[in-house]
Amino acid sequence: MTATIIDGKAHALALRTRVAAHVATFREATGRAPGLAVVLVGEDPASAVYVRNKGKATRDAGMASFEHRLPADTDAGTLLALVAQLNADPAVDGILVQLPLPAHIDAEAVLLAIDPDKDVDGFHPVNAGRLAIGAEGFVPCTPLGCLMLLKDIHPNLSGMEAVVVGRSNIVGKPMAQLLLQQSCTVTIVHSRTRDVAAHLRRADIVVAAVGIPRFIQGDWIKPGASVIDVGINRTDDGLVGDVDFAAASAVAGAITPVPGGVGPMTIACLIRNTYVSACRRDG
Ligand code: GUN
Repeated sequence: MTATIIDGKAHALALRTRVAAHVATFREATGRAPGLAVVLVGEDPASAVYVRNKGKATRDAGMASFEHRLPADTDAGTLLALVAQLNADPAVDGILVQLPLPAHIDAEAVLLAIDPDKDVDGFHPVNAGRLAIGAEGFVPCTPLGCLMLLKDIHPNLSGMEAVVVGRSNIVGKPMAQLLLQQSCTVTIVHSRTRDVAAHLRRADIVVAAVGIPRFIQGDWIKPGASVIDVGINRTDDGLVGDVDFAAASAVAGAITPVPGGVGPMTIACLIRNTYVSACRRDG
């Protein structure tokens, strides 16, 4: 079998185009644009690229982008004061503090300070709790993007065996919650799992988010499975995912490439979450 390659770029473009059309209607109805504030502390080059891309995507969707760049030695009090100001600003529907933060700042305290109803990253514990009980909130953008790609292939995921590889708060845990909400039978495997391959071999759905280049071997994949690779690992061969793409794509039914798979969906979902936030506030 040769897998269908899931075109994340095309899906992301379609989502951004749909959101932009909704934003145009929102602006006409309310006389204002949805707004996203992005805060970058320090000069980490990868973070600077992400923040630039987020600002551009926000403006491309017809929304207002508020970019705050603070020096690396900014103290926690200054950052918390900025978050408080953004929480109170009616023009701001979404707040994103780019991670990682410099080591002297307690990132957890900063995330806790963001108004959960403007937390378009979905990282606030209130939103993690809402996701766990199926209440309305914000879902982290990467797992939300993965679910959208999966639903395009399998509109009904009910009863499918899903294995999530990795248990991070940002991807693995919320991904498992989303798949459970879709009535999948969900397993999370992680660094202490005894036999990762045995779990994967019975998975109809695999979501890989471990950050280890080409960790998942082709012969761990069940023939016909749908494989979503969240990994973005810089290696001497360039960017590679957590899945051995060449081997897995000979077995899987569908698979995301790296790059061009999940990555573009993350920003598209951020734009979507910001629009949703504006509607909840002012729709
Ligand atoms: N750093 C890398 N990805 C992300 C993200 O999705 N959100 C935030 N806040 N920081 C990040």
